[in-house]
Amino acid sequence: MPPIREKTARELLDFYLEAGADTLVGEEPVDRFAAVDPPPPARAPQPVSLPPDLETKGRASPYAAPQAPDEAAMAARAAVKTARTLDELREILQKFDGCALKASATQLVFADGNPKARVMFVGEAPGRDEDIEGLPFVGRSGKLLDRMLAAVGLDRSSVYIANVVPWRPPGNRTPTPQETAICLPFILRQIELVDPDILVCMGNPSAQTLLGIKEGITKTRGRWFTFNTGKREIRAMPTFHPAFLLRSPLQKRFAWRDFLAIKKALTPQT
Ligand code: URA
Repeated sequence: MPPIREKTARELLDFYLEAGADTLVGEEPVDRFAAVDPPPPARAPQPVSLPPDLETKGRASPYAAPQAPDEAAMAARAAVKTARTLDELREILQKFDGCALKASATQLVFADGNPKARVMFVGEAPGRDEDIEGLPFVGRSGKLLDRMLAAVGLDRSSVYIANVVPWRPPGNRTPTPQETAICLPFILRQIELVDPDILVCMGNPSAQTLLGIKEGITKTRGRWFTFNTGKREIRAMPTFHPAFLLRSPLQKRFAWRDFLAIKKALTPQT
């Protein structure tokens, strides 16, 4: 192969980064242009093993990889109905193949914090650090979230944290509407099982997806909405996403107000 000019190599690396390939997987470069062996014959699809009480007896498995996004969303809705606990929901998500993000992510990022907390925070989707650690909000925006929680006397033992989409989109891109729709039944069931008194949606995608609102976060942050968990109606507040606050520190004063209002709503009034 002719030598690749440094600029071209840099551009290629930038392209890989944008596409989400930001982790070294091998020491030796692979020449993808070299002649390749013919692909091995296709294997018959392998059955997915299910917990005994979830065997579907002849019906389509809710875990099978569906082709179309709406089929995948239907499979997700069917699958979450069988989850009686958060552990069961996590197990079902681990086995669910309907969302393509699972294939590019390192692992599932299910939740962090206290499942018995009275307040639940929901972000958009894991980033690189979360993908590596398997926990939500552990990177730079997570550190800011921890400081904001501490400022109102909260921490990860008194809150529960999850994301609308539990797998990292490649290159931290925004999840597509299809990916969000496929993952939505899981986060809705997660909220129902945690059964918090207060739901906090961090950022526009979380607020618009969970609260069904059209207005942007600048208009909706700090306002109380009603959210039906499936068990009961609770209060829900959109607030700025910590990643946005890192980019726009002047907006922190508004987030501060929101966190004070959340704290007040958690404090019994005498
Ligand atoms: N941003 C999110 O929305 N979620 C995370 O877990 C991390 C960053």
